[in-house]
This record gives sequence, structure tokens and C-alpha cells, in this order.
Amino acid sequence: MTITTCVFDAYGTLFDVSAAARQAAQEPGSEALAEAWPRLAADWRAKQLEYSWMRAVTGAHADFWTVTQDGLDWAMEAAGLNDAGLRARLLALYWELAAYPEVPAMLTRLKAAGMNTAILSNGSPEMLEGAVSSAGIGDLLDDVLSVESVGVFKPHPSVYDLVRARFGCDKAEVLFVSSNGWDAGCAAGYGFTTAWVNRAGQPVDRLPWRPAHVLSDLTGIPALAEGL
Ligand code: LAC
Repeated sequence: MTITTCVFDAYGTLFDVSAAARQAAQEPGSEALAEAWPRLAADWRAKQLEYSWMRAVTGAHADFWTVTQDGLDWAMEAAGLNDAGLRARLLALYWELAAYPEVPAMLTRLKAAGMNTAILSNGSPEMLEGAVSSAGIGDLLDDVLSVESVGVFKPHPSVYDLVRARFGCDKAEVLFVSSNGWDAGCAAGYGFTTAWVNRAGQPVDRLPWRPAHVLSDLTGIPALAEGL
């Protein structure tokens, strides 16, 4: 079926979630992060996602800003870092994460082809507004959809339902793009046409569903969407 609507996960897909720890490590006074930042960034992300899943499964929803802070607190303690100033700096950087370099041209081409474009993210509306405006891509997106309107995190199907509610399209008309293997797999199970952006060359997640397409970055998304 022809693709009419391209929907993107935000964190890790459009925005580089490692950028906060990497950038903080380069700033004066952050010598403690020089060697620790890759592990800190990985632990922070892993715990942020674990906490989102635990909250979704148990019905104990809190917004993504809460689980982002909780994940950082775990990661800093694991790294032996007890520094309120560093914590505040890392959290501030999360509101202005860099977009991957190919993002503006990729979205521009999708809009030129007449596609609907949107973000569908666990992020709170405020966090997403910060990242989108910092990356300067707001004009290239028709909407920014947050799980906060349904009060549960991905991969709950009610989150993916937000796309059809917004654009009135069939599931199969949606190309859903995520660099998170679990998100791409579960969105495929939901019924979206799905592309997994596997930047790190990871094995595919062992779920009952597989993404239909696998790319190494976002550059090929317009050609994929236009060719389906
Ligand atoms: C998001 C997380 C899962 O943006 O990366 O929804």
C-alpha cells in the first residue's frame, strides 16, 4: 500500500541521546566524565527505557521527564558520580539534544513528496518542544505526538493508535521509523509498515514481529517511503 504518512520515534532516532553526556564530558570542570561518559550514557538510556516499560506494565505512569531523571540518578550512582551540578547540566542538555545531521534534508524531501510527517514519542510535550525547536525542524513536521495524551508509554497499542486518530490513515499507509529495535518490532506487530534504523549494527530483537525494513541511518527513508 502507498505510504502517505512518515512517523518518527524521537530519542535515538531523530535526536542523538548520547549527545548530552558526550557534550558535558567536553566542558571545563567535567573531567570525571572523560572516561565515564559512554557507560553513563548507555546506563542512563537503558534505565530510562526499563523504567518506562515497568511503569507501562504496572499502570504507574509518570511522564518521560520523571523516568529520564530517575534513569540518570541510577546511572550516576553506578558510575560513582555524586555531583548535583553535573546532574543539572546533563538534564539541561537533554532539552537541546542534537538532531542527527541527515534529519533536516530527509524531512524536507518527505514534505516535498507530499507526505505527512510527525514525531510519535514517549517524550513529554515540553521535552519534545525543546528538542524540536533546538534542532530547528518544527516547520518540517505536521505534528509532534506525545504519549502524554494517552498516559502510557510505548509499546502500548494506544500510543500507536494516536497516528490514525491524527491523520485518519490506514495502518499500512504509515511508515513508522525507529532506531529502537523493540519499538520498530512492536510497531510492526501493531500493523505499521516499519523501518528500523540500526545505526549501531545490533542484532534484531527477538520479538514475535520483525521490522519490514532495516537501514543504517535516515538518509534512505524518503526513497523507501516513495517506493513502497
Ligand atoms: C521515544 C523514545 C522511545 O522517543 O526514544 O519515544
